[in-house]
Amino acid sequence: MSVSFTRRGFALGAGATLFSAITSRKGFSAQSQEQKVEVNVGAEFGVVSPLLHSNFAEHLGSCVYGGLWVGRNSKIPNINGYRTQAVEWLKALGVPVLRWPGGCFADGYHWRDGIGPVEKRRRIVNASWGGYTEDNSFGTHEFIGLCRLLGSEPYLAGNMGTGSPEEMRNWMEYCNFPSGSTLSDERIANGAKEPFNVRVWGVGNENWGCGGNMTGDEYAAKYRQFSTFLRGFGETRPFLVACGPSGNDLDWSKRVLSGLGTRRGERGGPGASGPSSGFAMHYYSNGANEPTKFTVDNMRQQLSSFALIEQAIIQQRALMDEYDKTRQIGLMVDEWGVWDRMIPEEEKKYGRLWMQSTMRTAVAGGMGLNVFHRQADKLYMCNIAQVVNVLQSLILASGNNCVRTTSYWAFEMQKAHRSKTAVRVDTGDTSPLGISVSASKAAKQVVLTLINPKDDVAMKVDCGISGAASVKARLLYHPDFNACNTFENPNLIVPKEHPVSVQGGRLQMDLPPISMASVIVALA
Ligand code: AHR
Repeated sequence: MSVSFTRRGFALGAGATLFSAITSRKGFSAQSQEQKVEVNVGAEFGVVSPLLHSNFAEHLGSCVYGGLWVGRNSKIPNINGYRTQAVEWLKALGVPVLRWPGGCFADGYHWRDGIGPVEKRRRIVNASWGGYTEDNSFGTHEFIGLCRLLGSEPYLAGNMGTGSPEEMRNWMEYCNFPSGSTLSDERIANGAKEPFNVRVWGVGNENWGCGGNMTGDEYAAKYRQFSTFLRGFGETRPFLVACGPSGNDLDWSKRVLSGLGTRRGERGGPGASGPSSGFAMHYYSNGANEPTKFTVDNMRQQLSSFALIEQAIIQQRALMDEYDKTRQIGLMVDEWGVWDRMIPEEEKKYGRLWMQSTMRTAVAGGMGLNVFHRQADKLYMCNIAQVVNVLQSLILASGNNCVRTTSYWAFEMQKAHRSKTAVRVDTGDTSPLGISVSASKAAKQVVLTLINPKDDVAMKVDCGISGAASVKARLLYHPDFNACNTFENPNLIVPKEHPVSVQGGRLQMDLPPISMASVIVALA
């Protein structure tokens, strides 16, 4: 039996049984519903790569300047200019890959502006985001320094829009060639004796839009030209990322993939470490309301979009398979997350695209990660937008204030999946707002994320996991889905221990409306 979403409510699927109305949430009554979930521990289909939990930092608003980077002479506690609190929290979370410097900003960025003595660096206009001037005190060396502090792999987004193949190949040589060439010796003179060994390089960003308004055919031709010269310098074989579609634009993908020709294949097969290049789609989940003023209807609409993202991943990978049968090209979602209506006063105060994360936002983030885990066999990397102060950020910072958002906790609660083997889960309910689940396992442990995206149903989860011996659960929940962590009240919404029981290979727990649970199961 299928489940469908209508403006008036939900029709139930096979896995769900309605009980009576028991709780209320700001005037809405919630039904209690039994929800069956079956984890098929034997049905393995891929590995949850840590890269699926990656992030993105752009020169946009106060993500870099005033957020991650406060400068060496700042009164705000810092480690050589990096905001100490942000570094500590991100390090604790683990950011597998960090993409920089854009976004749209990347296609106007000239890397030479950000190297050498800080006082001599060019002041530039950030034409992509507000026309503010920047002093370039955060450049390539500072970005690599941040990645080293965080333990993240750097991902440099190159400039195709206003740059040239020569500029980008020179950046690669500057970063990766050990020594002896003019560019590598310049890097050494600028304080970095060892090469940066940057592996992941984006060849433009959103070139269907802010990166040059190209057609797919035009982009493919330019990509062929750029990639010819991005051969790699030193020992690091570059992993080049081509611009994929906006959302599920299959026409863009067809044109680019067919236009790339055979050059891709020349780089060799996927090997043990995976594909040799990437194709990156961007998929944002727009919200019609301001973050803390969501209506039920708009929340339902936004959370439903994760079913579309999942469909896009499946369809884009299927299309890629027609051109790339041996999967040398990895599918990426290197920008994703919720993008709500901005509040002009907040943008003025904190910078462009400054956005709060609420209980609803955390559920959206958790649903996104669940989608990626469920499609782990089709994806190479995913980068949420963005790490600090912009869109669905993990951290909000201003002056001396710094807070972990609900999205930080959504990521933290999913961390245990990293590097585990993805296993299949059945819920009997595949509707957009049906229970969202992902599961993975390693040795004697199963990790499970269960999310209730319904605002009017409290779920009583009955979950089968053969061999389950003991179990622990944490819950992220607040009865107001518009509630958030603020500078004044930073720990309003944090994960808490949650009652769960296990007997005869079945675990039982309650999942309130708009909540997310992480469960660790020890197998006998
Ligand atoms: O993440 C914000 C912006 O969204 C990026 O600069 C751009 O790539 C996308 O449109």
